[in-house]
Parts: sequence; C-alpha cells; structure tokens
Amino acid sequence: MKPRDSTKEKSSLWIFGYGSLVWKPGFAYKRSTIGHIRGFKRRFWHGDDFYRGDKDKPARVVTLVEDEQACTWGVAYEVTDSQVEESLQYLNMREIVLGGYITQMVEFLPKEKGQGPLLAVVYIATSSNPIYLGPASDREIAAQIAACSGNTGHNIEYLVRLAEFMRLSCPEAEDEHLFSIEAAVLNIFSECGGIKPQKPILLGAS
Ligand code: SIN
Repeated sequence: MKPRDSTKEKSSLWIFGYGSLVWKPGFAYKRSTIGHIRGFKRRFWHGDDFYRGDKDKPARVVTLVEDEQACTWGVAYEVTDSQVEESLQYLNMREIVLGGYITQMVEFLPKEKGQGPLLAVVYIATSSNPIYLGPASDREIAAQIAACSGNTGHNIEYLVRLAEFMRLSCPEAEDEHLFSIEAAVLNIFSECGGIKPQKPILLGAS
C-alpha cells in the first residue's frame, strides 16, 4: 500500500522564510506575519550555484544553524486549501532541488500581540549538502558575495534585500552577522574607489 501524502490532506500550513522567502515568496498565500523562531542563528554559510552564483563561483546564501541562545527573524506565510500543494511543489523545486535545502518543522512566534505560537515548515541547508560552504570571516564572505551572480541576479541583491527587510520590518531584532557582512561588502566597494554610501542602500519591491 502506498504511504499517504499528508501534505495533500492539510487545509492550512504555515511556511517560515528567513532568506529570499522574506522578500520573494513566489507562491500565493492567504496571509503573512512577521516573527521569529528560537534555537537557530542565520548564517551565510550555504552555497548557491544556480540563483546567485554558478558552478565556478558559488554564491553565499543563508541557512539556519542550531544555537540554543539564538533566534532568527523572518516571515511566516499561511497557505490554505489548493495553495498548500501548489506552494510545496513550487518550493520543492526552488529550495530543495535547485537550492539544496531540506525541510524541518519549527515553532514560530508571531510579533503581533495576541497571536500564539505556530508550527511552520522551514527550509534548512546542512553541512552534509555538497554545496554547503560553512563558516568564514565576514571579509571572506563579503568578498565572495561581491563577486557572484547567477540566474536570478547578483549575490549583493540577496544580501541587501535581506538587510533591508530586517531594518524595516524587524527594527527591534539584532542580526550582527548579517549587518557585519553588509558593512564588509560596502567597505570592499569603498576601498576599490566605487560607491561610498552615506546611508544604507534601500531597494524597492522586487
Ligand atoms: C528561506 O528564505 O527561508 C530559505 C533560504 C533562501 O531561499 O534564501
């Protein structure tokens, strides 16, 4: 007997995004809410040889790394009815087949008062993935980000959009890793005599 596909039977599902999913979910959803998950830190430790880099120059994109003391802010999207299967199929290609992530269930804590914790699916890349890059100094990560682009655009755009989301939507949250890497990229450009921004770069909607 074939195992039952429980995702097809669910009429509602929450999906937590902490990377490109915060600015570009790419699937239809009923509602979204900003908040955080505990026990994970966001790190630019995953490689990407399709969207923001290529086989010769893999880009740096974020994954979650377990850390009891940490929390990671992002957006949870609720998909309902036919959106459940449609979103999971879309994300299977985007995040798992091409991105190298796997899924995990996490407890999501919405920022909005009165909303209780929710169980959400999250996409995580682990060190067992062949395109996982692992830790490096802020400067090394920034140099890699400054040099890579792929099928959906430059690696810098990925970084800047994520930093912009955190600045605008989660001003109360800390993310030293993200903002240090953003500063290191800006330093690389100013050292090269390129852009010297007076204030953080802000981008419009994608
Ligand atoms: C996510 O956004 O939640 C997963 C990582 C990514 O696709 O950037």
